[in-house]
Amino acid sequence: MKISIFGSGYVGLVQAAIFADVGHRVICMDVDQARVERLRNCDIPFFEPGLADIVRAAQANGLLSFTTDAREAVQASDYLFICVGTPSAADGSADMSYVMDVADTIARLMSSRKVVVTKSTVPVGTADAIKAHIAGALQRQGRSIPFAVASNPEFLKEGSAVKDAQSPDRIIVGAESPEVIDEFRHMYQAFNRNHEKLMAMDPRSAEMTKYAANAMLATKISFMNEMANIAESVGADVELVRRGMGSDPRIGYQFIYPGCGYGGSCFPKDVRALKHLATENQRSAAILTAVHDTNQRQKNRLSELLMGRMGADLTGKTVAVWGLAFKPNTDDMREAPSRYLMEGLWSCGGKVQAYDPQANAACADLYGEREDLELTDTKEAALEGASALVICTEWKAFWSPDFEHIKATLAQPLIFDGRNLYNPAHMEELGIEYFGIGRGR
Ligand code: UGA
Repeated sequence: MKISIFGSGYVGLVQAAIFADVGHRVICMDVDQARVERLRNCDIPFFEPGLADIVRAAQANGLLSFTTDAREAVQASDYLFICVGTPSAADGSADMSYVMDVADTIARLMSSRKVVVTKSTVPVGTADAIKAHIAGALQRQGRSIPFAVASNPEFLKEGSAVKDAQSPDRIIVGAESPEVIDEFRHMYQAFNRNHEKLMAMDPRSAEMTKYAANAMLATKISFMNEMANIAESVGADVELVRRGMGSDPRIGYQFIYPGCGYGGSCFPKDVRALKHLATENQRSAAILTAVHDTNQRQKNRLSELLMGRMGADLTGKTVAVWGLAFKPNTDDMREAPSRYLMEGLWSCGGKVQAYDPQANAACADLYGEREDLELTDTKEAALEGASALVICTEWKAFWSPDFEHIKATLAQPLIFDGRNLYNPAHMEELGIEYFGIGRGR
């Protein structure tokens, strides 16, 4: 099938690559010339395991190409996927200007039947708004061309995006006509082989499914963070509580890991957008508000713990930070808990020595040169001359470190663990003072 993807960010590029990988002919369009040049050279602008190999192979066999030419992208394909960003606007709503710009471009350049698909996370009603927009534009141009608009939200996770896209749990298709649903069935055939995963519904329900799924996952995390903080005060260990709870299949083990708060480009933005949608429609957003507020507080939990132990004046003190990315296997620091921690430490006069296996460059871009930040090449170097170690991201490399080395290098053997990687009893045996999240201290 002939598919064009507008936007070569996370969602667009992964989707383009995996469609081309199974034999569709895919054009990926982006307005950013430099990015397109990089992609043509298989230089992926972000870290995502496995993606570069697929992009390279698909380009080599001619199934994937990159362009800045919107006319080519609109005219050469039957299926036009909108995968551009929907960042948070100042009031928390999703900024739809990039999506509507693409809709405009499509309306201007289309000359045969098109199926326009939203894959970005978009407010409920967007498919209808795009439909009205394109219909209006065509009418003003005095042209009559058939088209359909469908919602096909993505559910991939950074760090396992390729695998998630190749083996989706579900393929949600929100479309009005059975004909369009059938076209999606063909398009996704390669990913829908073991059992039926395609769920057809109306576009509004498809759009809402995406928000509701992310909000539910964010709710699980904030709920567990609240449990962790209660556990801490009453002398219980939330890690034991988590296992006890997760064993109930109605609750499940996934997404109940307490920590230093959720970050990334999706949960914070989507919870805010759904909250906005609720209030805009005069509906309660009490749960969403609590999920968001709890998360904001949790992102400051590590600084609170550290200052509770070390005092609020950190002048002359250096803190080692392991993990800057909002989660492992990505170099993304958007809304990362590490940022709240570092900014908290800086505001109290502290210096940070930080190491991340992938996100050091993102951190340097974000904060530039500053005297109170040193990015190190190894996790060991981050410990040199530091008074304490704080863990913000659970990269595998941090799971079983050489504790004797940590103890010997830190000025005080003090660990604040935002991901509960270590066993408090083991830390006590080793003579390391250890603070986790909700570990009953
Ligand atoms: C999330 C969803 O998991 C995807 O299904 C969705 O497609 C995606 O958003 C999106 O809307 O594009 P992502 O943001 O890549 O994916 O990352 P997650 O693995 O969901 O983690 C999000 C945050 O929650 C991270 O900061 C992580 O550390 C935190 N988290 C996750 C916890 O604190 N505890 C947990 O138990 C799980």
